[in-house]
Amino acid sequence: MYVKIVGTGSFLPERVVDNFEIARMVDTSDEWIQTRTGIKTRHIATKETVASMATEAARKAVADAGISPEEIDLIIVSTVSAEQSLPCVACEVQKALGISQVTAFDVNSACSGFITGYQMAAGQIKAGLAKTALVIGSECLSNGVDWTDRGTCILFGDGAGAAVLRADCAPEELCIPCVLHADGSQGEALTCSLGHGKDKVPYDEYYRMDGKAIFKFATRKVPEVIREVLELSGHTVEEIDYFVLHQANKRIIDAIAKRLRQDESKFPMNIMDNGNISSACIPMLLDDMNRKGMLKPGMKLVLAGFGAGLTWGGFYLEW
Ligand code: ACO
Repeated sequence: MYVKIVGTGSFLPERVVDNFEIARMVDTSDEWIQTRTGIKTRHIATKETVASMATEAARKAVADAGISPEEIDLIIVSTVSAEQSLPCVACEVQKALGISQVTAFDVNSACSGFITGYQMAAGQIKAGLAKTALVIGSECLSNGVDWTDRGTCILFGDGAGAAVLRADCAPEELCIPCVLHADGSQGEALTCSLGHGKDKVPYDEYYRMDGKAIFKFATRKVPEVIREVLELSGHTVEEIDYFVLHQANKRIIDAIAKRLRQDESKFPMNIMDNGNISSACIPMLLDDMNRKGMLKPGMKLVLAGFGAGLTWGGFYLEW
């Protein structure tokens, strides 16, 4: 038996920035961006913050789960882009939802963050320390985008996705087919510092990325981790209905589908509309699928992500 996702929600800022607008800021084109990444538009926050977007997504997930916010006893927010270090975003969400008896903390493993959050929450549920968890990915990546760098500014967007987790069996009957990996030796491939060092000298506060290195890493490591997850859950790749992957580049997802020898229709995408929203991508895509009625009880899913750190991971989920 597995920890279930019983409700999903998401939030996108109203302001849409299309490729033509970006092409007025840097030397690029709609054609280049669409061909090389699959992205047509992204949403950019104007007044929204990581905490406000997380809260909106959380409210929708709680409503979708048909529970009262008081039933939540654990809130985990994954983010790399919060406007403030303290208090953590999870506590801001707790305050906004008006709930008291709750454990709340943030995690940062970049675009793998929703997978990390799921593993933390599922582990707490299995240990009997929590019953109903809210796991949220919320990002305002525009906080760290250098709008003069065409290698990164074309990719990122803002938004949030949330999921309510619960088990419908005794904690000791649960298994958690989830795998997480990290390789800090490759950390230079994607860096950003929002803030100042001890000497008050500002670090480079923009996303700096070796896109080619990450592309190569993702197309190799994501199929590997999907196979690890399937080995743990005892399923074959053919048995999986959908692979819900981090939305970084359409070509990365196509390459992963090819490596796994699975039809592209098993790899839903929303990168065209939203761009890469780091840890929010996976729960937002899951929410899209949920709202479109694509998810039927008993369906078998693998969710997998990769990102800065470098980190990567995945888990098996039954709907
Ligand atoms: N418009 C036009 N030309 C461009 C642009 C642009 N926006 N960006 C780069 N180019 C040019 C380059 O200068 C280069 O020109 P040259 O051949 O004259 O030197 C050419 O296009 C090819 O550049 P590459 O970097 O090789 O392009 P590539 O096909 O690798 O695409 C991209 C770049 C889209 C960044 C790709 O490498 C990628 O998506 N990588 C993965 C990135 C990723 O997943 N990052 C997120 C990690 S998740 C997280 O933690 C937030």
